[in-house]
Order: sequence, then structure tokens, then C-alpha cells
Amino acid sequence: MATAAAAREFKNFILGEWVAPQSGQFHENRNPANTDEVIGMFPLSSAADVGAAVTAAREAYRKWRLVPAPKRAEILFRAAELLVKRKEDFSRDMTREMGKVLAETRGDVQEAIDMTYYMAGEGRRLFGQTTPSELPNKFAMSVRQPIGVCGLITPWNFPMAIPSWKMMPALVCGNTVVLKPAEDTPLSSYHLVETLAEAGLPAGVVNLVSGEGPGSGSPLAKHAEVPVVSFTGSTYTGRIIAEICAPDFKHCSLEMGGKNIILVMEDANVDLAIDGAIWGGFGTAGQRCTAASRIGVHKSIYHEFARRFVERARSLKVGNGLDPSIEMGPVINEQQLNTVMSYVEIGKSEGAKLLTGGHRLQGAAHAKGWFHEPTVFGDCHAQMRIAQEEIFGPVVSIIPIDSLEEGIEVANDVPYGLSASIYTRNVNRAFSALQDFSTGLVYVNAPTIGAETHLPFGGTKQTGNGHREAAVSAIDFFTEWKSVYIDYSDRLQRAQIDND
Ligand code: UN1
Repeated sequence: MATAAAAREFKNFILGEWVAPQSGQFHENRNPANTDEVIGMFPLSSAADVGAAVTAAREAYRKWRLVPAPKRAEILFRAAELLVKRKEDFSRDMTREMGKVLAETRGDVQEAIDMTYYMAGEGRRLFGQTTPSELPNKFAMSVRQPIGVCGLITPWNFPMAIPSWKMMPALVCGNTVVLKPAEDTPLSSYHLVETLAEAGLPAGVVNLVSGEGPGSGSPLAKHAEVPVVSFTGSTYTGRIIAEICAPDFKHCSLEMGGKNIILVMEDANVDLAIDGAIWGGFGTAGQRCTAASRIGVHKSIYHEFARRFVERARSLKVGNGLDPSIEMGPVINEQQLNTVMSYVEIGKSEGAKLLTGGHRLQGAAHAKGWFHEPTVFGDCHAQMRIAQEEIFGPVVSIIPIDSLEEGIEVANDVPYGLSASIYTRNVNRAFSALQDFSTGLVYVNAPTIGAETHLPFGGTKQTGNGHREAAVSAIDFFTEWKSVYIDYSDRLQRAQIDND
């Protein structure tokens, strides 16, 4: 058994150097598929470490904001090229620390590559507007301005993609950043930051401080020199971050929970819908904020769908994601496994019908990891807790529905609003759903997961606070508009008064 003493000690990255935490404290990062394997010892940073990182970022900002954006972008292009070269190694490390299968960690690294190229391209755009003035001999335009030091707090389920969603737009716009990754998956952030530094980012432009929420995340969000905070994680923690940011009017972007649905209508291609529901429900062991944790199925095909879906769920091969034959990995840690198991009990006590799964996997192949069976509840009501609350695990609730109208009502009647999908071959139904789903993402004949980096990403209600990640919307969050008026008439011209 690998012992903690033998494991490599990782450091924080501050002002271009790897430095030990002033706290002197570390925690173990273990493989959730084999808890004997220690990935490394990572800093448990304190407010003093965070402070040093913010000071570095604030100093670096003075120069970085003035570097022409196309030049900033060149560094991102180089980082993207390096990520392409290292994709396989980074994917394997990510599977070791996070558990999801290799095909999915390759997707995660690819998403970071896509985002890096995309935002590098923005270096030669970052478009503002020019518009006529209402007065003669006067010019009007709006330009984007960076804001300053951005505090980025990221989750464990997309350990490279999500840090890249935040870092790349922040950087290309001329901000500097301090990243606090999830304590369960810091290694992938180390890889990303190391790659950016190698690509040529000046010291202090990107800083990495590893640690837990209360010890490191909270001091980062609170820091007086951090005007921008971007967080992805639970709605519970998001509310705390929002409260921290409110008194100082910090710019705060929150990307939080989901309770996403796939509607399968009576005219759907059922084979396709089953493929989509398996991928949407059990991909990443259900640990995506976009996971399809509810499936609303029209009553006329309910029994056929449920029978075949359960058959497929039962046959999924669960195990260590480095094995190419494995289809679903473990959940991230013991606490998450306990949450999943407690929701199975809640479902049973609410009267939902357990169709398959419902237990922790503990045979020889699973004894050392946090594995749970793919689990399906049938005959669910829309108001049951398992159909309302985010479980973040491999548990899917099937809800019988009578009509499209009922399906949409069920879809929208949850506290979240991230992603929704409909399987139908009827164009009218598809467009009605597109119009009426109250979510930030809608899919037709595809599951609720699989967003691409050049479209806005995020959700309504308790999923978010009105911002969107990715695409140009991320540029909107990481800049402020400056409206500029240039009067070349050589006389006083009063807007709204001298314009007859
Ligand atoms: C998340 O679940 O937190 O659309 C992000 C998707 C991925 C991103 C998911 N591209 O499922």
C-alpha cells in the first residue's frame, strides 16, 4: 500500500514559483477507484497563502492589462498546443484522481483545449461597438476593460474543463487570476497551470492555491483586492459565496445545481432515447450538473422504455476507469457515496419502485473504491424528493407522463433550471419544448449533457445568478464596458439639449 509519507508533496503556485503553503499543512488526494493509491499530498492553504497569491496577481495585473490582447492570446495558443500534446497523460491522471472513465477524462481535457483555442481566438476580437453620436462631429464607441484579480473556485467533476472555462476568458481579457481548485481533484489544475506557465504567462498572472472551501476558498472570495469571483459547485455553497460578495458589490458568477430531465414522447425513436438516457444519466456516474437524473416517459411507451432502460443500466460495467472495458467509474468520495445511498432510502420510503441497483458495490473488484450500482427508480411522482433534489450520483428517476404539456410542467417544476431534453420526431413538439423549457440549455434528440464551448453555458432559477460561462458570454462577465465619447467639434455640445 502506498503510504502518505511516500507520496509527492505538491505546492502552491504564486508569482511564478512553486511554494510550500505557509500553513505547513497538506492533505491526501486518493484515487476514488482504489483508495490505497495516494495521488499526492496537496496544500491545505490558509488565508495568508491566499493573500500572497492575491498580492502577486494584483502586481502582475498592472502590466498584464496593458499587454495587447492578441499578444496575450498568443500565449494561450501555445498553451493549447501543449495541452494537445499532453492530453493522454493528463487524462490518465484525471481518471486516477477523479474516477471517471478514460474516454470521459479525454473529453474533459479536450474541453479545456477547445476553450483555450476559442479564447485565444478572442484575442483578435474582443469586439466592442461603434455607433453614431446624436451630435455632429462627435464619435461614440464602447470598449471592453479588464477588471482586476479574479478569484476562481472550481469543482471536482470537471477538474480541467471548468478551470479553463474561467481562466481562459479572464486572461485573454487582461485580468489576472487566483485559482482555488476542489480539494478532491487538484492535480488536474496543477497540470493546467503548469502548462500555462510553460507557455509563457508572466509571473503572477496565474496563481494556484490549493485547499478547502472554508480555509482557502472563503478568504479568496472575501479578499478586498479580488473584485471578481467565479464559482461552480453546489447551490448551498453558491449562496454562501453570493453573501460574501454582496456587501462589496463584487462581480460574482455562480454555476450551481441541476435537476435535468429527458422527455421521451410517444413518437420518439426509443432506441436513440435509451442510448441518450443511459449516457445522460450514468455518464460521469451521474456527477454532472447537467446529468439526466429524471426521465419523463409518455405512458403509451412507459413499460417498454422502462424495461429496456433498466436492462441497459443493469449491464453497465462499473469499475476502474483506466480499464477500457469499464463504462462507469466510482463516485468521488465516501461522503458522496453516503449521499447516494441515503437518497436510495429516501426513494424507497417515498414509494418509488426500485427497478435496479440501489446498493454499494463491494465485491473483490470494487472493495477499494466508492462504487455504487447504476440505480433506477420507476413510477416516480414529480414531487418526490428523489425527483426534486440534486443527488449527483448514478440514480435516475422515471416519471410517467400523459402529454407534452404535462411533461413540460414536470420539467419546469423544480428549483433548478440548467438542462432539459426532448426525444420526439414531431417538429411542433420539438419547438414547443424549446420554447417552454425554463432552462439555460435545451437538447432535441440528444441527452442533457454535452455542451460545447462556443455556446453560452448556464441555467436559470437556483442553477445560476444570471451569468453564463463559455462563449462570448464569458467575455461579458470578465470585462466591464467603458463608453467613450470623442467630441471633435471644438465647441460645447450638450447631449439631449443641443441636438435639434
Ligand atoms: C458540469 O456538469 O458541471 O455539458 C459541466 C456537459 C459538459 C460540462 C458539464 N460539457 O455535460
